[in-house]
Amino acid sequence: MSVLAPGTRKSCYKCGREAEVMVRYARLYLCREHYIEYIEERIMKTIEKYGLLSGVKRLLIALSGGKDSLSLAYVLSRNKEKIGLTEIIGLHIDLGINGYSEESRESVEKACSELGMKCFILSLKDLLGLSLPEIIRKSNRPPCSVCGLIKRYIINAASIELGVDAVAMGHHMDDILLFYLRNFLLGVKSDYLKLGPVIEAKDTIVAKKLRPLYEVYEEDLSLYAKLRGIKTVGTECPFKHNDHIEKAIKEMLDKLENHAPGYKLSLLRRITSSEKREALLSQEVFTCKYCGSPTNNKDNICALCKLTQNVFGEPRGLYLKQKLKEFLH
Ligand code: AMP
Ligand code: FES
Ligand code: ZN
Ligand code: ZN
Repeated sequence: MSVLAPGTRKSCYKCGREAEVMVRYARLYLCREHYIEYIEERIMKTIEKYGLLSGVKRLLIALSGGKDSLSLAYVLSRNKEKIGLTEIIGLHIDLGINGYSEESRESVEKACSELGMKCFILSLKDLLGLSLPEIIRKSNRPPCSVCGLIKRYIINAASIELGVDAVAMGHHMDDILLFYLRNFLLGVKSDYLKLGPVIEAKDTIVAKKLRPLYEVYEEDLSLYAKLRGIKTVGTECPFKHNDHIEKAIKEMLDKLENHAPGYKLSLLRRITSSEKREALLSQEVFTCKYCGSPTNNKDNICALCKLTQNVFGEPRGLYLKQKLKEFLH
C-alpha cells in the first residue's frame, strides 16, 4: 500500500475521483472513502471466509488502546446487525504503567463512548494487588512475556466469567508472521497451531478467540485508523525494547512484499493451513491444579499460577478469578 502524492492523476477504480491510495497487493487505486470501505470489506470477508462469527451473538473485544483493536471495534460496531451480533462489549486491562496506561485507557474510553459500547476497564493492581511494573521487578523475567501471559489469562477468564460466545483480538497479519519467524529463528519451540484466525472453545475453560484482522496488513490498519480519525495511544510502551531479530524480520518481510506484492498474505495462509488448525482441536488441554484454568504444562500449573507463586509466594489464579467476579457483575 502506498499513499499517493496529490496530482498523480490516477483514478479511484470505484468512483473515478482522484485516487489517494494505491493498494499494491490488490493492484487497486482508491480514493479515501473507497479505501476505508475496502479495508472494512476485507475484514468482513475474513469473518465470512473462516466462519468466525458462526454461532456468536455476544462478543467481547479485547481493547489495548492501539490502532489495531480500536479499528476492529469501529468496524464490528458499524456492522453489528449485518454480522448478526446482539451485543459487543469492550474489555481493557489497565496495566498500571506510568503515562502509557493512562493514555491507553483514555483512548479506549473515548472510542467506546463514541461507539456507545459497554466497556469493562480492569486494573491489574485491583485484580492481583500489584501493577505490571511491580510484578516485572519481582519476577525477574522478560517484561513482554510476563505482560503477555497475564493479559492472556485475564482475557480468557473474563470471557468465561461474562459468558460471551467469543472474544475478538486485534492481532493482524504482520503480528502473526513476526511471531512465527521470530520463534523459528531463535529455535524456540512454540505452538504454531494456535496462530490461526480462530481458536475454538474447549471444556468450558478455554474461551473461543477470534482474529478478524488475520488477513489485514499492519500498514493498512495504521492508515485506516488515521483516515477514520480514531484516536489511539500515541506513546510506546516503555518496556518495548529494540529487538534486533524483530527489526531484521520486519525488514526482510517488507523487502519480499515489495518485490512480490501479496507475499506476506500467501505465506500466512500456508503457515496456518486448515489441516493444522484441525490438529489443534484434538490437542489435549490440561487444567491448572490451583485455579482450574487451561494450561499446556503437564505439571498442571498454569503460567499465571507459576508467575504469582514466584512473585507473591503463592499461586494467585483463583484469587484473580474471584476479583474478576466482583468487577464484572
Ligand atoms: P499485543 O500482545 O500487545 O500485540 O496485543 C494483541 C491483542 O491483545 C490486542 O490487539 C488486543 O486485542 C489485546 N490486548 C493487548 N493489550 C491489551 C490490554 N491492555 N487490554 C485488553 N486487551 C489487550
Ligand atoms: Fe505489555 Fe508493554 S504493553 S510489556
Ligand atoms: Zn472512490
Ligand atoms: Zn492457575
